[in-house]
Amino acid sequence: RMPILEQCYNLMDFEAVARRVMNKSAWAYYSSGADDEITMRENHSAYHKIWFRPRILEDVEKIDLSTTMLGTKVDIPFYVTATALGKLGNPEGEVILTRGAKKHNVIQMIPTLASCSFDEIVDAKGDDQVQWLQLYVNKDRAITKRIIEHAEKRGCKGLFITVDAPQLGRREKDMRSKYSDAGSNVQETGGDNVDRSQGAARAISSFIDPTLSWKEIPWFLSVTKMPIILKGVQRVEDVIQAIETGVQGVVLSNHGGRQLDFARSGIEVLAEVMPVLRERNWQDRIEIYVDGGIRRATDIIKALCIGATGVGIGRPFLFAMSAYGLPGVDRAMQLLKDEMEMNMRLIGCSRVDQLNPTLVDCRGLSMH
Ligand code: FNR
Repeated sequence: RMPILEQCYNLMDFEAVARRVMNKSAWAYYSSGADDEITMRENHSAYHKIWFRPRILEDVEKIDLSTTMLGTKVDIPFYVTATALGKLGNPEGEVILTRGAKKHNVIQMIPTLASCSFDEIVDAKGDDQVQWLQLYVNKDRAITKRIIEHAEKRGCKGLFITVDAPQLGRREKDMRSKYSDAGSNVQETGGDNVDRSQGAARAISSFIDPTLSWKEIPWFLSVTKMPIILKGVQRVEDVIQAIETGVQGVVLSNHGGRQLDFARSGIEVLAEVMPVLRERNWQDRIEIYVDGGIRRATDIIKALCIGATGVGIGRPFLFAMSAYGLPGVDRAMQLLKDEMEMNMRLIGCSRVDQLNPTLVDCRGLSMH
């Protein structure tokens, strides 16, 4: 029998239910990673190499999980990252994630390739609710500029330019299942020549520009007041270049293991980046986010201890939405909050700004 919602006790439980209830091609699109999926698996298992060094005898009666990301106060240090094609999992699509994010005061990153239109997703938000935009850069820069200006006008508070996908990775599970319906908006964004024979990802991504390079970043900075964040950075040299170029943030990410297989996990890269930034005293010049494989509040805490400002979570909310709709997303977020509160107590921290590198033993990582 299918578990009822109250029997989901952690984020992995939603995945198990989603696998059983989703249609095969939707499941293939959400769950797949590139090639042999080594990076996708490593994303989560890398967290298993980090151990805690908890403090004792601290007053942890009251726990405050709030923090600030790109100027926005949030109730807990994660955001809902951009994942394309929400309607594959639920007929209402991304607006379900919007409503869940509203309830828990977390930020939602809207994908360029959402199934709902951008305006539908913005219209679904509450007055004070904050959204960011994930941008795939179109070969036609006039289209890209229009998208950016519209997002700014509609109140988006951050522009996340995806930089790890000059070409879409090979997600073979997805390619094997011929994709038939992505929702109307995506077809518009993707333009014509949609090839449906090789899975959802290929069908929707033909407009992405592989010529995008560092020298264009100043142009992005000049056309918007939104903070600009590069999503998909994988080495410290590029974090330094990002700082020198003047962007406000980076996401250490390998796209959920869907792009370059054998890319390192975001947490491994974070452990490479932070000591170099601290050595230069540059840690306050940029906000560093991490995504990929975050399934437990202990994963979030580990990333914050090493130096992340916040983390992005993708598939778990897609699976919760696909399995149970809004109540599923609501419960997934609540479970993370409960886990986080308990684990903050157990490591002896009552506030997020107390998390620091001495609380973790990272010797199991190759970079520490
Ligand atoms: C993604 N991701 C993604 N990223 C992006 O910049 N643009 C996009 O359109 C998408 N689409 C997308 C679809 C699906 C189904 C998945 C699972 C992921 C990557 C996403 O933003 C994020 O980097 C990862 O999902 C994080 O890993 P987890 O939390 O899914 O393990």
